Amino acid sequence: MKCFLDQKILITGASSGIGKLMAEAFAAEGARVILWGREQAALEAVGKELTERGMRCASYLCDVSRRDSIYDTAERVIREHGPIDILINNAGVVSGRPLLEISDAEIEQTFDVNALAPIWTTRAFLPTMIERGRGHIVTIASAAGLIGAPRLTDYAASKHAAVGFNDALRSELRHLGHRGIRTTVVCPYFISTGMFEGATAATPLFPVLTPDYATRQIVRAIRRGRRRLLLPRAIGVVFLARLLPAPVFDWIARALGVTRSMDGFRGRRSG
Ligand SMILES: NC(=O)c1ccc[n+]([C@@H]2O[C@H](COP(=O)([O-])OP(=O)(O)OC[C@H]3O[C@@H](n4cnc5c(N)ncnc54)[C@H](OP(=O)(O)O)[C@@H]3O)[C@@H](O)[C@H]2O)c1
Repeated sequence: MKCFLDQKILITGASSGIGKLMAEAFAAEGARVILWGREQAALEAVGKELTERGMRCASYLCDVSRRDSIYDTAERVIREHGPIDILINNAGVVSGRPLLEISDAEIEQTFDVNALAPIWTTRAFLPTMIERGRGHIVTIASAAGLIGAPRLTDYAASKHAAVGFNDALRSELRHLGHRGIRTTVVCPYFISTGMFEGATAATPLFPVLTPDYATRQIVRAIRRGRRRLLLPRAIGVVFLARLLPAPVFDWIARALGVTRSMDGFRGRRSG
């Protein structure tokens, strides 16, 4: 069981949603949180709030859709704070529209933020973790990293990439003998942060999660060094369903309402 006291924990996309809540939760346990965000005012507001509550934090503007921005900011963080203990790849975007209604640029942005950024941040911070023989890399992926649905073609593809990256990285670290470096991948269903505003849980099996509950579960999984967190656990049914022929799998997805869940999606564009 990990104790977060004095741990340096870097969170991308920390200016809102579960990124912000995780920052609060870790800082409340005595961690030094390093917040990355792309919007100055929002990031400053979170930093100010934490500092006023006596928590330790540092904020860095970083647009994680840009590799150079990630590498430059990571260098600054290491120079100013030394090696970090836990890297949490949390920043994410969703377009939420059918494939032919999304622009090429939006698809690239989705991949840059959801799939590539975790790879660049890991390449930036892994060397110091290897030097110290310890570290923890967390990927906030999605249930859409396990199963696709309408209006999620780009998002699901990018989150499948994030899950695949985590799985291969975990295997590679062990294979290369870096046993002190852990990975955790988190695959949540909908969380009511606003990112998926308008999307609905079609079955009680997969309820929309509250941000507080999701954050508590994620913090607990990181503390315990769990390799994978499915939220809710029932999402694991996807692994069994995958063993079935594709037409049966598709029928189950339709029957569970997975295919209708994005019909009312508005996302943050709804204002
Ligand atoms: N909410 C859900 O239903 C749900 C379900 C499964 C998985 N997830 C995943 O959980 C993670 C957190 O999402 P959330 O629900 O907390 O939504 P959120 O409040 O929208 O948080 C996403 C964060 O990522 C930041 N971000 C986006 N693009 C960025 C960029 N280019 N550079 C830096 N930061 C960037 C956002 O900053 P701005 O505020 O500046 O845009 C925001 O702070 C995401 O990876 C998401 O895919 C969410």
